[in-house]
Amino acid sequence: MDDKRIIFFDTTLRDGEQSPGSTMNLAEKLRLARQLESLGVDVIEAGFPASSPGDFEAVSAIAGEVTKAQVAGLARATRSDIERAWQAIKHAAAPRIHIFLATSPLHMKYKLRKEPAEVLEQIRESVAFASGLTANIQFSAEDAARSDPEFLIQAFNAAIAAGATTLNIPDTVGYAQPAEFGNLVRAVMAGVKRPAERKIIFSVHCHNDLGLAVANSLAALEAGARQAEVTVGGIGERAGNACLEEIAMALHVRKEYFGFENGIHTEQIYPTVRLLSRIIGQPIPLNKPIVGANAFAHESGIHQDGVLKHRGTYEIMDPSAVGMPTNALVMGKHSGRRALKAKLENMGYQLDEGRIDIVFTAMKKLADLKQTVYDEDIEALVLEEVYRIPDKYRLVHLSVQCADTGVPPTAMVVMDIKGERRQHAGFGVGPIDAVFGVISSLTGRKPYLEQYRVDAITGGPDALGEVIVRLTDEGCRSVGRGSHPDIINASARAYINALNRLDKKRAESCHKETK
Ligand code: KIV
Ligand code: ZN
Repeated sequence: MDDKRIIFFDTTLRDGEQSPGSTMNLAEKLRLARQLESLGVDVIEAGFPASSPGDFEAVSAIAGEVTKAQVAGLARATRSDIERAWQAIKHAAAPRIHIFLATSPLHMKYKLRKEPAEVLEQIRESVAFASGLTANIQFSAEDAARSDPEFLIQAFNAAIAAGATTLNIPDTVGYAQPAEFGNLVRAVMAGVKRPAERKIIFSVHCHNDLGLAVANSLAALEAGARQAEVTVGGIGERAGNACLEEIAMALHVRKEYFGFENGIHTEQIYPTVRLLSRIIGQPIPLNKPIVGANAFAHESGIHQDGVLKHRGTYEIMDPSAVGMPTNALVMGKHSGRRALKAKLENMGYQLDEGRIDIVFTAMKKLADLKQTVYDEDIEALVLEEVYRIPDKYRLVHLSVQCADTGVPPTAMVVMDIKGERRQHAGFGVGPIDAVFGVISSLTGRKPYLEQYRVDAITGGPDALGEVIVRLTDEGCRSVGRGSHPDIINASARAYINALNRLDKKRAESCHKETK
């Protein structure tokens, strides 16, 4: 591989999913994995197979689906974890086992309760075991940024001798400073003995606790690392990971400075970030670099004047370079199935004929309710109609009365519960409270409503309302989405969607182990 080629290792589906409230179901993970391939990432870390049966199943499904990118499965440095990771990824076109073990004094003493010599032995033993399964092995020295550089070199030498090909230097707690981290990478790379017959790639994995994950990653690449571990939108444990789109665009916009090559198709950035945002139910912050709604907006008169005279005065990149739509109107009442199919393909959705039919029927229904159907509306329909998990609870009818007559807001709900038609009515302090109360009575589920948010998906008074609901119940948390032109109906759908997800998670045991 060219020495100037940067490998993008995406861990949105593993470290990203460890971010609170960012869990995804299997269909959503598959959808995101496909989109990550279209984006051009080189490695997809699909999950941590030993952490839960659900993670194993998702990693295995992604391994079977992805053809261009490598698929990595995370494992602790134990035989059982490595074996489990291998079972989940072995059928991938290019599987990678990713083993991690902590090397900092603090982690070794208090977390692992092991002497440094024992840690070195465990690295040797685990990597050697993995090398009996595949030649594509990554070893991560957890908390490397707070490790003794000399010990880090010994740890990496042990991993290389046992068969590792990628050595990852994580700043696990986001503690490092850019120049310092660059120096660490340089020192480690200079100290490690690299075999002549095997190419060794140095990688970095930076967390964002001090807001420096991207700066530290870029400093490491300048110092010689050739793999950047990133997540879409920078989601991840605590304050998150290095943000994929920020690193990709820094390398793109400042190509003359860095001089690196990579496989990212920048015009797929915005569709990818939007897809993730819809899946995890978190909006893209307005001021988010690269993809926020304000990233290309110019408010001050001086800036507007400058941009009108020459865009380059205040804009360093073109919105189209990151795939920001110009909000072109797409579908309507009279659009045909073939046009929808082409539109879906254009948006990156490869759906089979049956699923296109489902979206088409939903699109026609929506076009009866609102005049214009935008890309964002179609995206919402796809997520709601195609990628929803098999429902235990389903909304059949909803009627709400809410007027200033002295009678409290009343909801009448008809639901399908495990195939059985049930109905109930009740009051609430407001219409949403009434609807949620009736759904709770019908399902017998009374989770805590942690968050409720309503947004208009597109502009105009007939915009589709999208409701995001976050629920917690006995330590399990879920996010539900619902969209409909009527926001009370959207709210009921979101609540029911969250209940379905909560039940699914409970069935899978929501207490999966994280790294
Ligand atoms: O933050 C970390 O150290 C990790 C490793 C597993 C790479 O996520
Ligand atoms: Zn991490």
